Amino acid sequence: MPRVKLVAGNWKMYTTAGSARDLAAAVRNGLGAEDRVAVALCPPFPWLPIVAEALAGSRISLGAQDVYPEKEGAFTGEVSPGMLLDAGCRYVIVGHSERRHVIGEKDTLINLKARAALEAGLSVILCVGEKLEERDANKTESVLDNQLTWGLRDVSSSQVDRLVVAYEPVWAIGTGRNATPEQAQQAHVFLRWRFSQLYGEKSANSLLIQYGGSVKADNAKDLLSQADVDGALVGGASLKADSFLAIVRAALP
Ligand code: PGA
Repeated sequence: MPRVKLVAGNWKMYTTAGSARDLAAAVRNGLGAEDRVAVALCPPFPWLPIVAEALAGSRISLGAQDVYPEKEGAFTGEVSPGMLLDAGCRYVIVGHSERRHVIGEKDTLINLKARAALEAGLSVILCVGEKLEERDANKTESVLDNQLTWGLRDVSSSQVDRLVVAYEPVWAIGTGRNATPEQAQQAHVFLRWRFSQLYGEKSANSLLIQYGGSVKADNAKDLLSQADVDGALVGGASLKADSFLAIVRAALP
């Protein structure tokens, strides 16, 4: 079975209530009845219900950018997996490099988030990726190995069919400098191989591994045509319907 690619827009801390509604509607209209590629939009928390409404009845899934690994409680400012499900989310991004390196999240917390989200029934987009100095020091594979292994600690094999891995080299995020298609393919092959050691070949063959980091309309086709690149996690270019839809089209088989 060929893997159906997933293109997800990570809106980060951008958009207003109004522009979020308009952007979701424009993506929905532009996508039409296309079903050969899966699409998800991940707006900021406050716009989840607005975007859910704009996407209702469409093929586009809703995702959140973060989650807290508790069902409920005195955790000021945090949002639980159940709340995301209630808001209509199917996906949640976990371990994004901005949360790792700007906000300071460690692998232990990322692992708790992934587990709690999967246990609640969400699909998790687990982000992994090396920094430039790690790539330059030939540490890419050991960093990816660590982040993947830690991120998935105690995640059962019955849950990994709801897992997506996003390879996002930190030096490529928001910098305009994307990984070459060959660099992406090489990292994805490594991640799939490592995942097969953890969960077996069958699960590894069906695992979706997205590439993220300066994916744009003009480089998407080259990246997405690599055998192990199963979609894209798109930041900047997901904030305009035209450029996001061009990336979605580049993911068509
Ligand atoms: P970018 O962000 O496309 O703006 O580089 C990607 C991401 O952070 O997921």
